Amino acid sequence: MKSLLSLTLNGRQRDDAVAGNLLLVDYLREVVGLTGTKIGCDGGECGLCTVLVDGKAQHSCLTLAATCAGKSLETIEALAEGGRLNAIQRGFHEKLGAQCGFCTPGMVMAAETLLRVNPDPDEAEIRNEMASNICRCTGYVKIIEAVQFAAAELKSNREAA
Ligand code: FES
Ligand code: FES
Repeated sequence: MKSLLSLTLNGRQRDDAVAGNLLLVDYLREVVGLTGTKIGCDGGECGLCTVLVDGKAQHSCLTLAATCAGKSLETIEALAEGGRLNAIQRGFHEKLGAQCGFCTPGMVMAAETLLRVNPDPDEAEIRNEMASNICRCTGYVKIIEAVQFAAAELKSNREAA
């Protein structure tokens, strides 16, 4: 049985009829068509499916879509600003933080959460925040450098404003 799910997704109000057992990741990918959010372990272990729910990182593979009623969701598709990569996305590009790229959307969303609450993290804080995101390709060094690049760029922008 389906019921109406009303929420804000990437700044836009949506209303969709969804089954009560529909996972958020399947809602995003199959109902809405936003495939930037990836599915890896499907069990809360890899972080590939990370999205922001009311500004906090959440595993969409462990979240029922229906529990997001009235909430504000952000996915990787929302981060580009006016068609331009945001600072974290640029960091991954500039520092070669992605190899196959499969983990990258989840990594970027985790970093986005971190930098919103802690705009000037040290390396240990970045490693701690990103610890729930797994990458099969890289040694994580480039990923850490990507987040540091973004933090430095955002700091420079704040100081220039
Ligand atoms: S797919 Fe959700 S944590 Fe791995
Ligand atoms: S870049 Fe391939 S899994 Fe992380």
